Amino acid sequence: MKTIIEPFKIKSVEPINFTTREQREALIAEAHYNVFLLHADDVLIDLLTDSGTTAMSARQWAGIMNGDEAYAGSRSYYRFETVLKELTGFSYVIPVHQGRAAEKILCSIVGGAGKVIPNNTHFDTTRANIEYSGARAVDLPVREGTQPEVIAPFKGNMDVDALEALIKEVGAENVPCCLLTLTNNSGGGQPVSMKNVRDVRAVCTKHNIPLILDVCRFAENAMFIKMREEGYANMSVRDIAKEMFSYGDGAMMSAKKDGMVNTGGFLALNNGEWAERARTVLIVTEGFPTYGGLARRDLEAMAIGLEEALDEAYLTYRLRSVQYLGEKLKAAGVPILEPPGGHAIYLDARRFCDHIAPKDFPGQAIVCALYREAGIRSVEIGSVMFGTTNASGEHVGPAMELVRLAIPRRVYTQSHIDYVIEAIVNVHERRHDLRGLRMTYEAPYLRHFTAHFEEL
Ligand code: F0G
Repeated sequence: MKTIIEPFKIKSVEPINFTTREQREALIAEAHYNVFLLHADDVLIDLLTDSGTTAMSARQWAGIMNGDEAYAGSRSYYRFETVLKELTGFSYVIPVHQGRAAEKILCSIVGGAGKVIPNNTHFDTTRANIEYSGARAVDLPVREGTQPEVIAPFKGNMDVDALEALIKEVGAENVPCCLLTLTNNSGGGQPVSMKNVRDVRAVCTKHNIPLILDVCRFAENAMFIKMREEGYANMSVRDIAKEMFSYGDGAMMSAKKDGMVNTGGFLALNNGEWAERARTVLIVTEGFPTYGGLARRDLEAMAIGLEEALDEAYLTYRLRSVQYLGEKLKAAGVPILEPPGGHAIYLDARRFCDHIAPKDFPGQAIVCALYREAGIRSVEIGSVMFGTTNASGEHVGPAMELVRLAIPRRVYTQSHIDYVIEAIVNVHERRHDLRGLRMTYEAPYLRHFTAHFEEL
């Protein structure tokens, strides 16, 4: 059989609210042309994020009912700890309410003025937490990682020579840790090869720098390794994931992705002194170490979700369904970042709207057009999210201008995706009508969440 089907059936459904184009015209204007400010009820297909939008399984919902809500020493915590220690091999496991809480705690230990923290590509909240602590966040993707049209198996890799050069330039004593994000979300959901994890590990070992893995999408990354890297085809995804973890000194995870839950995360460490300091910050800001700002039932759902994410029938369907969207768009001439990522398709806004300069936010123009056209919510990952203005008032944009269509796990079926394809192809055909935007309000950090725009 050639057709890869969803390896689940649907037990519980939610209605989608339909809107007309006229209604959406008014709604997007009211939201200041920022889709983060829309009411979700006014969205037909929500591809804003794959984070916390997962449909949980019947087993997970049953686990929720079995959660032990004790403040301290909950049974659900011990179950969660057992699953995580077995999977990751790390000595200390600290639950948090979501990924950025782990980032904040880590930065309170390793951050501060004068410190430099490299990553293949920092996600926006990771960068913000590092910068907020006074440290500098440096992206070191491989060259093909910032070339949307280049097809390569592991475009999420870190440039190991650039890492060596950075350490030489700033001094190893100023690099308190190195991060590596699996898969590389800001770089297009692209995987990191096992060889690259090993090579980064070797550089870190040489300079005595701890390597902390950002493992939000570790299962998707492990599946890509199984499919694409020599020597891994016959290994189970679980064993591949374990090998990935074995090269880290610790990991942080937003379990809202491959943890298959609506909220949750963790910080896992081998360094006992760091773990002690992390737990102190945790108690002040998140909660007691056996719940970390979560309901204990959430720990139960996470323990089950982390196992389900490693199911190879699920991962085969997952990667294939994202690839399906990418293939159809490409066949229709829509420029996408290639190859398709694990959790999302990224439109290449620079080529899609080559008549709109980066300073006028071509990605945001596409995001607004997709909402108007079909009620689809996507997100800009380009000059809105990462752009700045230099001392002479000029716009400085990131390497790529992208629009991400993130696919929530186990939520949409193929006909939803076919609808999305139709809408994007329609917008692409009329792309020359799209206009840029001007930002009229921005917050000092993570401006994309709350920014206001006007159409030019
Ligand atoms: N690291 C990566 C690679 C992420 O993609 C995210 C979140 C985080 C850390 C932070 O986790 O949201 O639980 O605090 N990414 C979401 C997204 C928001 O839409 O890609 P969080």
